[in-house]
Amino acid sequence: MGMEASLEGERVVLVPYTAAHVPKYHEWMQDPALLAATGSEPLSLDQEFQMQRSWTLDPLKQTFIILDKEMVDGKFVQGDPHVEAMVGDVNIYMNDLDDPQMAEIEIMIAEPKSRGKGLGKESVLMMMAFAIKNFGIHTFRAKIGESNRASLHLFQKLGFVESSYSEIFKEVTLELDVTKTKLEELRSLLGDVNHE
Ligand SMILES: CC(C)(COP(=O)(O)OP(=O)(O)OC[C@H]1O[C@@H](n2cnc3c(N)ncnc32)[C@H](O)[C@@H]1OP(=O)(O)O)[C@@H](O)C(=O)NCCC(=O)NCCS
Repeated sequence: MGMEASLEGERVVLVPYTAAHVPKYHEWMQDPALLAATGSEPLSLDQEFQMQRSWTLDPLKQTFIILDKEMVDGKFVQGDPHVEAMVGDVNIYMNDLDDPQMAEIEIMIAEPKSRGKGLGKESVLMMMAFAIKNFGIHTFRAKIGESNRASLHLFQKLGFVESSYSEIFKEVTLELDVTKTKLEELRSLLGDVNHE
């Protein structure tokens, strides 16, 4: 816990969410549009630090900060939080008591200038590969506001299909089953992203 390594992709590096990332994360979460898109409550800086700690301690939750490789100062150094390059986060939450191999996945590219460059898609793919390998996840679930076109598009592109809709929350639930075919597709999509 908190000891997971960084994952390097083509355009992003996923690093563990540490206390060093919290002030910037908190700054992002002042934006009402981002709060709405992610279904988050506004928190004080103190509460954000507590949240980071509790996420790190929760074995059912895995959170990575997304670094845009183009924004890394100098060379990427393992263990360095590289706050200058943080642009969003991706996490999974294994929150289904009936199915421990189900993971809810969330993605946010908070920095507007880093959107639409494929960072979100690559981060989701890397997180999925990580979750399959380390936790044997066989179903992914994403809950997305019906007006969040970009996010819906991203997950549908990856093969997620609608499984339910909440009229109350105006929210779509999408799911993806990790079949053998899906696994092979995932491997080829990841391609040279996978450095192992
Ligand atoms: C939603 C989000 C995670 C997408 O990440 P991203 O890095 O910008 O998306 P990517 O560049 O990886 O694009 C992934 C796919 O989604 C599509 N897409 C991205 N933004 C889109 C948009 N605004 N509208 C429609 N499709 C979009 C891309 O074309 C791409 O599909 P492709 O593989 O066919 O090219 C990111 O923009 C985000 O976190 N936004 C936060 C605010 C938010 O949710 N905005 C939505 C409206 S409230």
